[in-house]
Formats: sequence, C-alpha cells, structure tokens
Amino acid sequence: MYKISIVGPGRVGESTAQILAKNELCRELVLIGRNANRACGVALDIQESATLLGFDTRVSGGAEPALMRDSELVIFTAGSPRKPGMSRNDLAAANLAVLDQTLDSVRQYAPDAMLLLVTNPVDVLTYHAWRVTGLRRGQVFGLSGVLDSARMASFISMETGFSARDINTLVIGGHGDAMVPLVRYANINGIPVSQFLDQATLERLVAHTRQGGAEILALKETSSAYDSPAAAIATMVDAVARNRRRILPCVAILDGEYGERDIAMGVPVVLGGTGVERIIELPLDGDELAALRASADEVRAHLG
Ligand code: LAC
Repeated sequence: MYKISIVGPGRVGESTAQILAKNELCRELVLIGRNANRACGVALDIQESATLLGFDTRVSGGAEPALMRDSELVIFTAGSPRKPGMSRNDLAAANLAVLDQTLDSVRQYAPDAMLLLVTNPVDVLTYHAWRVTGLRRGQVFGLSGVLDSARMASFISMETGFSARDINTLVIGGHGDAMVPLVRYANINGIPVSQFLDQATLERLVAHTRQGGAEILALKETSSAYDSPAAAIATMVDAVARNRRRILPCVAILDGEYGERDIAMGVPVVLGGTGVERIIELPLDGDELAALRASADEVRAHLG
C-alpha cells in the first residue's frame, strides 16, 4: 500500500502509527489532527525511530485535510474517548460531528479510499460513514471484534496457562456491553475450550471480555486502552495492505446477513486488499442468535 492517513493522532492513533511504520505497511503515513504542532510532533517522533527500528515508511503530520490526498486507506481515530463511568454510546453526538468533518475531506481528497473506523461508538460511526459517503459496502469497516477476541483469548490464556498464540476466539455483535463472545467457536489449536474450562469459568470469561474496555479505563482513569486497540488495528491494516484475505471479526455493513440490515456491527468477514470481500454467515444456535439480536438492538438504539 502506498499511502495511509490516520485522522486523530491521539494515543490510539499514535500507537497505531508506530506499528504501521515499523511493519512498513505503507510507504507514506500521514497523521492529521486539529493541532498541527502536535500532529507534526507525533509524526517526527516516530520518524526519528526509523533508523533504530529499521523502516522506510515516511511519517508526516499536520492539520490540513488536504494532507490525506490520494490515501488508499483512511483510519479514523479522532474524537473524544470515554471517561470512567461513561458508556461508548455517550460519545455518539460529539464524535459523529467530528466524523462528518473528516468525511467531507475524504470526499474531497481521497474519494476512493477505504475507511477504517475506530472511534466509539464504532458500530454507529461505521454505519454513518457508509451512509454519508455512499461508498461500496466493503470499503467501510470498523474495529471491534479483533480487539474483543484478543481480549477473550488473553483471558483464556491467563486462566489455562496455555500460550496465547494457540487460542482462537470469535467475538461478534456490537462493540458494547451486549457484545457476543462465541464460546462454542473458541478453541486452543482446534481443541474446544470446554475441554479445559468448566461452564462457570467460561461464563466469567465472557463477562470479563464484555467489560474488557471498561476495566482498562477504570484502572488507568485518564485513558482508555490504546496498546491492544492499536495492535488490533494494525492486524486489520496488515490484512488489507498485504491482501491476506484473513477471516477476522470486523464491524461491517449488513444487508440481510444474520437477518439484519440497515446496521453495522461485528461479524466474521474476509478482509483483503479491497476491504471486506465478503461476510461469513455462521450457523448460530438459539441462544447465540438471541444474544446477537440483543446486541444489534443496543446498536440500533443509537443509530438515530
Ligand atoms: C476499548 C475501547 C477502545 O474497548 O472501546 O478499549
């Protein structure tokens, strides 16, 4: 990939930029923020690590929307983060307004770009971005399941003591308290997790996964999570930039899949060079489907 722009060089944007640059996922990486000096400072700081970490990605920053010109991918991390006690949905109005400004710039300078939404409430913002831009459905997608699944895998690793590398998990639905960690699909190198953990423990890990973001926020007090979100974003960008066609849970625009339409939320997709190539529909049992409906209802309540 030649050029990626990150709009919002806050903590998530900065951590993401470090990984994208270090892994040379693009030739040119631009950080755009309201405060030009800060955006330039973050970019320069990362650029100065190039000889040490050994990368050729050019990192620059500024406030001018024109800086995103001809980006192939625009990552939106701008807006207000949660404060302790807030739900992700409490941010909707403020962050939709910031998103609208960015979408104007995308239309003007990078009309063919793919959009990766990160800012919360991410399902609501992803759907809004698709509706407002009229882009192809697969071109607009959001972060949630890769992060939530990584959290679930970490908790299973901590509980069992087995390597996190071998643990596969799948969390679908909205990126909110009603998200749906699919225990039936969780396995350790193909072995169902139920082989190692009893029902009560698994239920505790599901609840922990749902509260994963809030837990970090409560502990840090002045910041939401950013290291694991950045790693999750970089995983998605890697799938796109290297056309890997990975099966990853992403926020996608639904048009009848899972019986849902006029909504975006987390589902397993094939993520490759053109974005979301297709949505994978899993056979869900009654409880799983009911949980997905409840999660969709939570998202829909904030779609406006
Ligand atoms: C979290 C925020 C990024 O889950 O939503 O940590």
